[in-house]
Amino acid sequence: MPDKPRTDRTESEESRRSAEGSGQRADSATASLQPSAPSPQHALATRIQERLQAIREGRLERSLQPPSGIDFSSNDYLGLSTHPRVVQAMIDAIEREGVGSTGSRLLRGERQAFADIERRFAAFKGAERALYFSSGYLANLAVLTTFVEGGDVIHSDSRNHASLIDAGRLSSAKRIVFPHKDAGALAQLLSRPPSSGHTFVVTESLFSMDGDVPPLAEYDDLCRQHGATLIVDEAHAVGIYGTRGSGLLEEYGIEHGNCLSINTAGKALGVSGAFVAGPAWAIDYLIQRARPFIFTTAAPPAVAAAIGASLDVIAAEPERRSRLLDRVKRLRAMMAASGLPVPAFFSQIVPLVVGENERALDTAAALQAQGFDVRAIRPPSVAPGSARLRISVNVTLTDDAIDSFVRALAAVVGVGAIGGISPGSLSWSAASS
Ligand SMILES: Cc1ncc(COP(=O)(O)O)c(C=O)c1O
Repeated sequence: MPDKPRTDRTESEESRRSAEGSGQRADSATASLQPSAPSPQHALATRIQERLQAIREGRLERSLQPPSGIDFSSNDYLGLSTHPRVVQAMIDAIEREGVGSTGSRLLRGERQAFADIERRFAAFKGAERALYFSSGYLANLAVLTTFVEGGDVIHSDSRNHASLIDAGRLSSAKRIVFPHKDAGALAQLLSRPPSSGHTFVVTESLFSMDGDVPPLAEYDDLCRQHGATLIVDEAHAVGIYGTRGSGLLEEYGIEHGNCLSINTAGKALGVSGAFVAGPAWAIDYLIQRARPFIFTTAAPPAVAAAIGASLDVIAAEPERRSRLLDRVKRLRAMMAASGLPVPAFFSQIVPLVVGENERALDTAAALQAQGFDVRAIRPPSVAPGSARLRISVNVTLTDDAIDSFVRALAAVVGVGAIGGISPGSLSWSAASS
């Protein structure tokens, strides 16, 4: 980024501040005649202030805003983060085992609770084995940095989550981005003469910011045909889709023979962390080599107990999942009736693309002021020019909450309501990346 002229302070004020910061006397003759080079700390502070200013000017500034109002933004789709059975399981486990694990899994941090929940999760997922990580971000880093070697190729969907992008960057593979959900483009890429290394295809099963689903069965066929491995991030699908609720791989009948999945426990499961599920050899190797698994303190064991209780609830209360989908239907029907664009794809993530960052912020702020907790999503989470509201539906929403939210939304995006946004300028997903 080119240096910008400083408009906020004079040069002399600047050198005085610099001298004060380094403990020098600002009024000495030497200081005024021979300005010394700014201290490294000062130089960094200046650069970072410029970066922060650019972030503010682009309306890209993030703020830390605790929940307030009716939840239209969390990933607690099934309401399990506060389910009494899940909460009690965690309390009981804390009383039994304490709050911390005291070490990494390969040292004194290992507990029977982890082995038990991993066995159970693998069965839930229909995979041979599973391994628990402290977060989905770490699990994605682990998969792409452990199995992928120099000379390999990663084909990655253009709208993959940042954790998958970062993981690909950290791997030593050649990375090729294919157009969003485009099985035809992927087929062409895979039919190129193979590199000497192995090929991976990386996708989310339910895209976190678009709420849509790629042609997973076609990807699975293509991968088998070309000897590639399919890596599927089920972050937003696990707990909800498929007969058991284990995710979209189950829904589409895709087995883990040629596929590894990453399944967060901090979204529909309501707790935290993530499981990598796959063949036994893959899990064995992760334990030996995955740095995000090895070089970190194990999660509190009580988390494993809480996840176990979440799986119990998902099995015992299938009506939770059907109620969630019913809530989605109501929201979509209300949006359609109000003249708002409704996504082509049916899922609990309902994006409303408004385009400019400012518009997304203003729309979200207007709804927040009316008691609805919906958040603006801006670059780099989505492509520039595709800022949006990411409306997320959860099972606790009443008919009344949904209806009043949509009424407020329609009013806020109505002509002239917030500086000229008209429903015609909105789209389901105008993102291009
Ligand atoms: C698609 C996807 N993958 C991975 C992650 C990271 O999971 P976690 O929040 O457990 O680190 C997220 C979280 O936002 C996500 O949306």
